[in-house]
Amino acid sequence: MPEPLGDPPRGGDLGAALRAVRARLAAAGVPSPAADADLLAGHVLGLPPGQLRAAALRGTALTAAQAGSLAALVERREARTPLQHLLGRAPFRRLELLVGPGVFVPRPETETTAGLAVQEAAAVAAGGRAPLVVDLCAGSGAVALAVADEVPSARVVAVELDPGAHAWAERNLEAHRPGAGERVRLLLGDATSPQVLAELDGEVDVVASNPPYVPPGAVPREPEVRDHDPALALWGGGEDGLDVPRGVLARAAALLRPGGLVVVEHAEVQGRALRELLAPPTWGGARTHDDAGGRPRATTARRGRSPVTHWGS
Ligand SMILES: C[S@@+](CC[C@H](N)C(=O)[O-])C[C@H]1O[C@@H](n2cnc3c(N)ncnc32)[C@H](O)[C@@H]1O
Repeated sequence: MPEPLGDPPRGGDLGAALRAVRARLAAAGVPSPAADADLLAGHVLGLPPGQLRAAALRGTALTAAQAGSLAALVERREARTPLQHLLGRAPFRRLELLVGPGVFVPRPETETTAGLAVQEAAAVAAGGRAPLVVDLCAGSGAVALAVADEVPSARVVAVELDPGAHAWAERNLEAHRPGAGERVRLLLGDATSPQVLAELDGEVDVVASNPPYVPPGAVPREPEVRDHDPALALWGGGEDGLDVPRGVLARAAALLRPGGLVVVEHAEVQGRALRELLAPPTWGGARTHDDAGGRPRATTARRGRSPVTHWGS
């Protein structure tokens, strides 16, 4: 019998409700029950976590409507609906992005990927040129918007194949207008196709990508990922999960100017495979970078001067 969260018809004490939510989420195997409880209750009350805790200490009462809304959210979180879907948003670097069913929820490790692209774009801008940046496999638009937000002189183009995810990216561009959203051009298309953005071949300063890369046998354990992230966002194709990343790197090789930087995210175990793909003469200086948790999750390389005839040449 789940512990009640106050009595929805009459409401109840916020502190007691938070304790009950934490216990229920912990029992359901939710990885961070205390943080989730605070965020869900804060969402219902319209309070950030610090103010929520202060309100609980003051002995604030939940109204009946608030207790009912919280109970409904907790039930969905117990069923492992992603927290970000329930909140309708996800933090990403300096931004807050709209997310929900049909789009990949931006992850903390991708903040590292975006950061590497921001760093390179900022260096180009410091040299007196407006950087041209392409985000292949854009999802919610997280990487593209972060670059446009943090390097205001950058021109950013984002490509997404899935119409559902593309619609979320459009919403995010709109939500960041005026501002970063105005500086991102969004395309619906296959990022691995030579026709996509062919007019920019040889001109791009940075190509950033968090492509799908999960290999066929590696079914994600977390229900939030397995049951809610779109299949197109997870499975990279091929025995090693790297078919889409290979296509993305081929496209990046054509788009980048000589000396331009590619940044590609991957699984912890795929760093070596990526560095092997990013070999001379097409590429130089391949290097794998740790995310904030110390896990090797992104590889960068610079475009060499050799022309691309076909991938791997
Ligand atoms: C792992 S998600 C990353 C989304 C976003 N870049 C992020 O980091 O949050 C991969 C995205 O690539 C898209 N995708 C898969 N294959 C693609 C392709 N061939 N061309 C363009 N987008 C593709 C998926 O629909 C999904 O939105």
